[in-house]
Amino acid sequence: MVASDASLASAAGVEILKAGGNAVDAAVATGFALAVTYPEAGNLGGGGYMVIRMADGRVAALDYREMAPLAATRDMYIGPDGKVTGESLIGPKASGVPGAVAGMVEAHRKFGALPLARVLAPAIRLASQGFPVDSALARSISNAKYRIENYPGKAVFFPNDAAPPVASRFVQPALAHTIQLIADSGAAAFYRGSIADTIAAQMQRDGGLITKEDLARYRPDWREPLRSTYRGYSLISMPPSSSGGTTITETLNILEAYGPAARFGSAERVHAVASASQRAFIDRNSKLGDPAFVQVPLDKLTSKSYARELRKTIASDKATPTPQLERTITEGMHTTHYSVVDGGGNAVATTTTINNGYGSGVYLTGPGFFMNDEMDDFAAQPGKPNMFGLVQGEANAIAPGKRMLSAMSPTIVLDPQGKLLLVVGAAGGPRIITATSQVILNVIQNHMTLADAMRAPRLHHQALPDTLRFESAGLTPAVVDSLRAMGWGIVSTGSVANVNAIMRTPGGLVGVTEPRDRGPSRAVGH
Ligand code: DON
Repeated sequence: MVASDASLASAAGVEILKAGGNAVDAAVATGFALAVTYPEAGNLGGGGYMVIRMADGRVAALDYREMAPLAATRDMYIGPDGKVTGESLIGPKASGVPGAVAGMVEAHRKFGALPLARVLAPAIRLASQGFPVDSALARSISNAKYRIENYPGKAVFFPNDAAPPVASRFVQPALAHTIQLIADSGAAAFYRGSIADTIAAQMQRDGGLITKEDLARYRPDWREPLRSTYRGYSLISMPPSSSGGTTITETLNILEAYGPAARFGSAERVHAVASASQRAFIDRNSKLGDPAFVQVPLDKLTSKSYARELRKTIASDKATPTPQLERTITEGMHTTHYSVVDGGGNAVATTTTINNGYGSGVYLTGPGFFMNDEMDDFAAQPGKPNMFGLVQGEANAIAPGKRMLSAMSPTIVLDPQGKLLLVVGAAGGPRIITATSQVILNVIQNHMTLADAMRAPRLHHQALPDTLRFESAGLTPAVVDSLRAMGWGIVSTGSVANVNAIMRTPGGLVGVTEPRDRGPSRAVGH
């Protein structure tokens, strides 16, 4: 089963499963197919993380996050007036060195069963023969006009000054050619060959920083997966350079220190979950960064004893203020998570992104894809909020060759017998962490089915801004009153993240894609 944001990409993964591929083959097929069919977030020009658990017990975590180019400097996004410029978000300077192709090819090299060319065939077909544009894609492209139209992608995405019409066929021959080159020659085609030449040349022409040297030295990193437990269940998640696994672990450890859990929807439960998230984000925002550059106190942050100490700082009837700092959060769901489980029980959780929808807006005409604007995930000015309102510190300051801290949280959960239970993760910036934690909590602590766990109203707290956000209509007015009385700055918000998950049940695998997002389920099984 594959649960992704695009049914054609899920179907590409299932095609590979049917052809005898394993979950990693299917994940790679889905990833490349997302780059074709879900261009707002699926990508070759971004990066991501993959958590793998094979049925024989092997686990792995692959970090293929972008890296700052060698020419990047700490203050590159601070203007002469001392304020951050918009250049980390749009245009050629916003991009980190892409890791997506290196990562997916490396995952396939280590764990795949079918030849790479077979695994990439569905994506090549979707790009060369095209696929029908649905209303969601047409709308998404239209809404991103302001990002895309100033760069060469205008010709492809706004052919007659309008997004491709619904039900027309969207064909991407340049992208098909690029994926074919990767199928023929592996990641080298992208990082050293003709694609690298084109990326570097277009970057140099338009004022971007990425050079051939940056591309040639890019490497994905296999990391020790983060292992933790919650009430007898085991989590396998992503360590830094993502903050996802660490922050989920810290949140759940604090909640475990509570003893029996409060009823879903009650003020007690909201207070506990928000207070735990707030504390975990305070650590995230100040202490986490690329482990190649900063010493991350991972053992402490993920320990049960530290969580018990933090638990003691939560009063039963009062919110604790995070020192104030105002900034609104920009909405947007432009990352993409996909979960895959094959018939043998191998499982893969992958999250990938180009940050904003359509990344930096910069489309590379020759290779046919968008570049990321991941540089905004750094603290462009430590202590000042980024696009997501995250206030981060020196640990996540910009440095050449450094990976920007991420919230992406691909996670695999095992039941107390050590059998696969849940494959989960999300899009939604920092809300990825809270939404993924809450789906896990809903399943383990509140004994919900996956469908209920996904639909259940979510909340979000990221320390700063010091606001408890809850999905509109997610809490009863009486509970909102109680939380206000406890001192929570509480506001209702649109949807908290975009989760795609698969759960093993006695009746078989259940795949649920985000019910708040477009259309019917995009999970496909066979
Ligand atoms: O890696 C991160 O944490 C962000 N670049 C994720 C961005 C995201 O989820 C965009 N959608 N809201």
